[in-house]
Formats: sequence, C-alpha cells, structure tokens
Amino acid sequence: MKDILGKQIKKDFPIFKNNPDLIFLDSAASTQKPQVVIDAIKDCYEKYYANVHRGLYQLSAKSSEAYEGVRDKVVKFINASSISEIIFTKNTTESINLVAYAWGRQNIDKGDEIILTAMEHHANIVPWQQLAKEKSAVLKFIPVDKDYRLGISELSKLLTKKTKLVAVTHMSNVLGTINPVKDIINKAKSFNKDIKVIVDGAQSVPHFAVDVQDLNADFFAFSSHKMAGPGGVGVLYAKQELLEKMPPFLTGGDMITEVTLKQATWNELPYKFEAGTPAIAEVIGLGAAIDYLYKVGLDKVFQHEEELTKIALKKVSAIPGVEIFGPKQVKDRGGAVAFTVKDVHPHDVASILDNQGVAVRAGNHCTQPLHDKFGIQSTVRASFYLYNQPEDIDALVKGINKVKEVFK
Ligand SMILES: Cc1ncc(COP(=O)(O)O)c(C=O)c1O
Repeated sequence: MKDILGKQIKKDFPIFKNNPDLIFLDSAASTQKPQVVIDAIKDCYEKYYANVHRGLYQLSAKSSEAYEGVRDKVVKFINASSISEIIFTKNTTESINLVAYAWGRQNIDKGDEIILTAMEHHANIVPWQQLAKEKSAVLKFIPVDKDYRLGISELSKLLTKKTKLVAVTHMSNVLGTINPVKDIINKAKSFNKDIKVIVDGAQSVPHFAVDVQDLNADFFAFSSHKMAGPGGVGVLYAKQELLEKMPPFLTGGDMITEVTLKQATWNELPYKFEAGTPAIAEVIGLGAAIDYLYKVGLDKVFQHEEELTKIALKKVSAIPGVEIFGPKQVKDRGGAVAFTVKDVHPHDVASILDNQGVAVRAGNHCTQPLHDKFGIQSTVRASFYLYNQPEDIDALVKGINKVKEVFK
C-alpha cells in the first residue's frame, strides 16, 4: 500500500497507547479522538469555561470567543457563505429533525412528495415518515441498483410537480457508496428550482472535502463525533434565505430578542436555532478536530482510506463464503465494508472477531429498509479512518478465517 499518512499517525490517538492490541474498525459509528481534541476540551474546562453569550465578565467573553471561533472554522471547512448559515445541534439526527420540524411543518402539505433513497440511515428516514404521516404527504424512494449505487436515472421518473424535497445521504454508512449529490441536486433543481435538497453528510465530511456552495445543497447535516471530534455536537448548514423564513425548532433562552408574558421575538441567525446552553467545550473540541484534519490534510485522509478499502475489498472478498454488500471498486466509494459470512450469524462473527481484539459492528447499522431489500437482517461492517493501517485488515482477514474454523 502507498504509505500516505504513515504509521506515526496512530500516536496522535491515546486510545491506541492505552489499548495496544486494539484493532478498531468501527469508525463509521464513531471515531477515536486525537490528543489535541482531548486537550482542547480539558483546556476549556481548566482555564476559561463559562456560559457563552450571556456573561459580561472576561471568562464568559473568552469562552464565547472560542465557541464562536469554531463557527468561523466550520464556515471555512464546508465553504458556507456566512456564520448565519451554521447552526450547532446535538448531532446529524437533530440537524435533520430541525429541518423536518421547522422547514417541513411550514412547507409540506397534503399530497406533497418527498424523495428519499433506499440507502438512507434511519436518521434520514424516520423524521420524514413522521412529517409525511402528519401532513398526509407521500414518500418515494430512489432504488439501489445491483452494483449498490443509486439508480439516478430513476430520479427523473420520481420527480413530479408535487415534489418538494429530496433527502439523500452523501455516503452510505453500510455500502460505502458515495452518491453523486451534486448531480442529484442539479437534476432536482433543473426540474423545478423550488425543490429543496437536504444532504446527510454524516459519512462524508469526516473523510473528504465538502463544499456546500459548490453542491448547491439547501441543507447539509453532520456530526462532530464521526470526524475525530467529541460527541454531543452536530452541525446543520442551511441557506440563509431558508433559515430566515423558518420558525424556530426549540424555544427558550438565548434564541430570543424580547420576551413578554404573552409572546417573544426571535434572535438573529444563527442563534434563533440554538436554544439553551450549548455543548460549549465540545464545540471547542470540534474546532480542534477541524484544525487537526486540516493539518493532516483531508485529501490525504481520503487517499489513505481509499488504499485501505482497496486492500479490504480484495482480501475480504477472496475469502470463500464471504459476501460484500457494496461496490467492488473503490471509485466513488468510501471506507465502510459490510459483509456476511455464509451460515454464520453476523453477531457471532463480530463476537469471535472481538475475542481477537478486532472491533467491528454487526447489525442493521440503522438501515433496516436497506437490509430488508437484501433479504437479510444484519451484516458485519468494518469501517476505516485515518489511524487504520493495512495490518488491521490482515487482522480482520485472520479473524474471519478463525470464524470459519469455529463454525466448520
Ligand atoms: C449516514 C448517517 N446518517 C446519520 C447518522 C446519525 O448520526 P448521529 O447518530 O451522529 O446523529 C449516521 C450515524 O451512524 C450515519 O452514518
């Protein structure tokens, strides 16, 4: 394998020092954290923690400055046009729910159509199901073809004058498929410029550079914990003109300008959508994660993972009885490799791998409809991030062979 990042990178992550035998292959669920992120959070609590936006004292000014500084970093990281378009949430799930509640309840009516895809995470299905039920709207799905890619030509058949929204994942957390979201957005908007598109970027932003303006996405959601940052923080990007028209999602402190006993007026963007005390130290940790990814270079992260995926596809698929669910080539594909081992339950595979120090995920990975389509309940998933090395894949292969031996 081309040595793009080098083995030294693992030293940035204390979890590997504290668990020297750990082979961690579950980064699609949540990634490990580099020391710089841990230090940034510790630093905040030890040196300048106070609530943001409220205090008139120096400590609060300092924490507010650090917190808002991260918003600037996010603007640059995904190329938004201003801080008004960046809302800190809890995670991708909350970001999507925010859109479903605030934009959806205002813009979706009886008979309107929402186009999703058959490979969405539950986080990008259930909020739309709830909205559709409430509003008597209709959900339609772009199918997944035999090569585990979206049948994009089907999109033209699904678009009608009732289509209001397209919701699509940038990269499947199971198949690894990277979807051509720019083309999808283009196609939807050429059909009708008023159609809005929300992109679930939970599995893209951590792994390759994203430019929301170039994509022309209306809404874009992602989570800090999947990109070397802490848990409890997510981001919703949305075009300012949409946020201005949307009512608030959660209400209470910080998101208001004036409150009387009878009514309230809303704060300016983006604060209108950030009710209550946010996850201050965690947002600051996200800022450190962004700095870290810049330092390593997202291009290198992607190339490194591409090399690992190439090896995994070759070595894992060569094991008799193993079936991979996802594109067999690395082109337009990320580092999530889902598979089954013939006649062995995925949970047993994961458990035997765990006995050998290999951490993988088994289950439906919050994509039950996708698994239903394959006629199976679950798969095993190995997923990679910048700290993984080719030896980790060798350990995975060795582990799968052990599984086969046990179940012979
Ligand atoms: C594609 C995709 N969307 C959404 C989510 C939900 O992310 P979170 O749990 O951080 O809200 C995940 C998490 O696995 C995911 O992989």
